[in-house]
Amino acid sequence: MTTVLAIETSCDETAVAIVKNRQVYSSVIASQIPVHQQYGGVVPEVASRAHLETINDAIAQAMAQAQLDWSKIDGIAATCAPGLVGALLVGLTAAKTLAILHDKPFLGVHHLEGHIYATYLSEPTLDPPFLSLLVSGGHTSLISVKECGNYETLGETRDDAAGEAFDKVARLLKLGYPGGPVIDKLAQTGDPQAFTLPEGKVSLPGGGYHRYDGSFSGLKTAVLRLVQQLEKEGDTLPTEDIAASFQTTVAKALTKRAIACALDYGLDTIAVGGGVAANSGLRKHLQAAATENNLRVLFPPLKFCTDNAAMIACAAADHLSRGHTSPLTLGVESRLSLSQVMKLYQ
Ligand code: KG4
Ligand code: ZN
Repeated sequence: MTTVLAIETSCDETAVAIVKNRQVYSSVIASQIPVHQQYGGVVPEVASRAHLETINDAIAQAMAQAQLDWSKIDGIAATCAPGLVGALLVGLTAAKTLAILHDKPFLGVHHLEGHIYATYLSEPTLDPPFLSLLVSGGHTSLISVKECGNYETLGETRDDAAGEAFDKVARLLKLGYPGGPVIDKLAQTGDPQAFTLPEGKVSLPGGGYHRYDGSFSGLKTAVLRLVQQLEKEGDTLPTEDIAASFQTTVAKALTKRAIACALDYGLDTIAVGGGVAANSGLRKHLQAAATENNLRVLFPPLKFCTDNAAMIACAAADHLSRGHTSPLTLGVESRLSLSQVMKLYQ
């Protein structure tokens, strides 16, 4: 059994959690969303400062909630890539300091590996191989999960990430930041067939379309043109119908590619992760298509879909139980491919 305290500060949540293998002892998430809302998106410098102000309290709260003393903690981890460099540095430095102070092993964790591990928190018996559909604010990928630290990206977006598309469409509908939850809510009362929007196919040089790669920038532009046209005609914007049509288009596009990929690679389980895994339209469409194709689809509980430290602790506990630790000289990286995860360990 391996117990890890992990810190996640890659973007706009200051999160600290303590996890024993797949069992969550505590999970503290201090969201900065209200701080960034006035700017309409995350401001990196503001994020770093807010992490700095919150991190010590979040660590103290996580320790208090878990009711453990330091002797019961086997390792200290922090997200080290990818993400906002200044924000990542706050968490990484705090984790290294705790590791030195309490004489514990230190581990840097890849943020996307954390999102993959979020499913394990509610699925104690899930083991690789399976297909991960990672849909967050910065990434949209189909990943073959082979074992701890061994990942192959089979498909991805060629431009905007799914969450980014939700955020951009919300901005042009003047719905504020972050866009996903508010579009999801409005879509409940809209007509998903009100408008036909492009699902973002990627053409192949020899003809036909890529089965797993997609694009969301054309969809975002199509919504922009639609809004401009409706505004020109002087109509009140049917915001609910636009939200529902957009959400259904994204959900269907992601579902089609995930199902094709799982079937082609003979993977019978699809584990969804990242903030967009919270989306009700995606959950509905993917679940229905998976059932039709005799596949199993797993979604983490909503609180572990968006950024949190429990998923980072869970990934770190698995690495630590295999003897993987990181050197204290490890730095942060704004970009790092999932295939490079093992470069973080010695
Ligand atoms: O995984 P996450 O918390 O952070 C990143 O690693 O990027 O994902 C944040 C993204 C944002 O773009 C947000 O709009 C989106 O997840 N999101 C949603 C929903 N909840 C959050 N998108 C669609 N539907 C939701 N219910
Ligand atoms: Zn994330």
